[in-house]
Amino acid sequence: MCGIVAYIGQRPAKPLLLEGLKRLEYRGYDSAGIAVINGKLNVARSVGRVSMLEEKLEGLKGFEGSLGLCHTRWATHGAVTEHNAHPHRDDRHGIAVVHNGIIENYAALKTWLQERGHVFSSQTDTEVIAMLVSELYEGDLEKAVQAALREVTGAYAIAVVCEKEPDVLVVARKGSPLLVGVGNGEFIVASDAAAIISHTQQAFMLDDYNVVKLTRTEFKTTDIHNTPVTPKVQQLELDLEQIELGSYPHFMLKEIFEQPKSLRACMSGRMDTREGRVVLGGLNTFAKELTRARRVILTAQGTALHAAMIGRYLIEDLAKLPAQTEYASEFRYRNPVIEEGTVVVAVSQSGETADTLAALMEAKERGALALGVINVVGSSIARETDAGVYLRVGPEIGVASTKAFTGQVAVASLIGLFLARRRMMSAGDCADYLRAMETIPEKIEKILEQAPKIKRITEKYVERENWLFLGRGYNYPTALEGALKLKEISYIHAEGMPAAEMKHGPIALINEGMPAVFIANKGRQYEKVMSNIQEVRSRGGHVIAVATEGDEHIAKYVQDVMYIPDIPEPLSPMLAVVPLQLMAYYAAVARGHDVDKPRNLAKSVTVE
Ligand code: AGP
Ligand code: GLU
Repeated sequence: MCGIVAYIGQRPAKPLLLEGLKRLEYRGYDSAGIAVINGKLNVARSVGRVSMLEEKLEGLKGFEGSLGLCHTRWATHGAVTEHNAHPHRDDRHGIAVVHNGIIENYAALKTWLQERGHVFSSQTDTEVIAMLVSELYEGDLEKAVQAALREVTGAYAIAVVCEKEPDVLVVARKGSPLLVGVGNGEFIVASDAAAIISHTQQAFMLDDYNVVKLTRTEFKTTDIHNTPVTPKVQQLELDLEQIELGSYPHFMLKEIFEQPKSLRACMSGRMDTREGRVVLGGLNTFAKELTRARRVILTAQGTALHAAMIGRYLIEDLAKLPAQTEYASEFRYRNPVIEEGTVVVAVSQSGETADTLAALMEAKERGALALGVINVVGSSIARETDAGVYLRVGPEIGVASTKAFTGQVAVASLIGLFLARRRMMSAGDCADYLRAMETIPEKIEKILEQAPKIKRITEKYVERENWLFLGRGYNYPTALEGALKLKEISYIHAEGMPAAEMKHGPIALINEGMPAVFIANKGRQYEKVMSNIQEVRSRGGHVIAVATEGDEHIAKYVQDVMYIPDIPEPLSPMLAVVPLQLMAYYAAVARGHDVDKPRNLAKSVTVE
């Protein structure tokens, strides 16, 4: 997903904008650009990394001003070219715009503007905003932006400057996040806090339809009809150490190794093992409604959906409550039936995934109680829920989600136990599960000690272009997650499925030496998984097993084993996934890929 950084204050804007843009690189992008007002509007853009934009700027003059904006683009309308990179400028008043999102009615607006003589130079939807503001500009940038936004439909976070108003920065938001950092005689605007916290801890998040006019001394917030709005300036909870690489080569590896710590933070204060109960303050207001719930629908995309699938098993198995999972992108358009007593749970690390937000809204409008399992505090999805549980795993920078996944599963486990305890689980049984959960961080530490062995195993198969990931029960979603991890950063084709499903077609794929990763820890279906392993081995496949410590039996039947400590099966995905995360990481490194910024991917998909 793209990023915006804008600045108005006393300091030179360029270095500060570029530093902020680098802190947003993890979100994924394909091109970048910057505009600075220094008497007049100066714009520079480039395809590729921010470092290439920096090189381009080295020889350029006019970028010394203290008002500017910059952008990393994740193309939706128009190819990845310099002409389509942001900022986009108008053709009359020296106006520049950067934009996150999609303007859905851009084609009609473009025709209307062309009929009024505006000459476009890009294929993007964003350029329409620049020309529309220009068409409506009568000497007041704030008013022109408000008027323009009354005409557009779609999603946007925008920052706008005009060379005729060198003391004004206008920003606005609908559907894509934007924060305003309040400094001392300056304002830093950005798509997320990572670009703000090195300058100020005080910030406010724009709400949908907010327009903010910023000068060097004050700000004014309205809606698009110029009705005043009072934003809530809050203390940002982020610190720099959390978003810096430290001694690690990649954020993904840092975040894999952070999981013992992030899970301790996630579970802290939420498990009363003495009383055998779960403490989720965010759900207390709706405890009765939840206890009487008749169905739980968990909706998400990608890794978050895999965590949601595990949550579904837990809620059914432990709370004996009907539960289902839904691809948010399908659910939102399927005309779903939402009966009385339905709870919908949106699972999302970023809290900005467009489809997940839309699915939650759809279910809410049909009467469901809306819960969130979210990592980013104050994110769009979090703000739309009736209640929720934050992951509290800290910012996740690597595009491939790791600590957020185990955090989502941990929270899903807590919600499952929260419901189970209110329905028919005894305090003793609940306490047993909670005590088992308390051991997860140290058990993950034990698995991480095997990293060199897991690296060696991975490198044996890294040249193979097709892998299978197979599991049963709670670890069927874990198999899906292992396949996704490998795909998204090593670009190896991998398919996850229920182990029993292999016989219904995919077994035809097995050829000599094909890697098949089985999650074969001790559980209700262990013997069945062993049979599936044999089916693969007898056709020449090479089996890599995730097995329970002490299981010497399995070692006789597979090529490689990665052991995890024993734990009750419902909690085992949080352990079984760790070797798979490491395999994906080592495969990507062995193949020389950019682990933290994999091709074509964004950290959060805020467009449909
Ligand atoms: C996971 O590694 C991917 N980055 C992707 O599948 C991600 O999980 C998905 O886009 C959902 O993102 P969210 O959790 O921020 O909603
Ligand atoms: N839709 C705009 C474009 O394609 C903005 C994409 C983005 O959010 O980066 O340029």
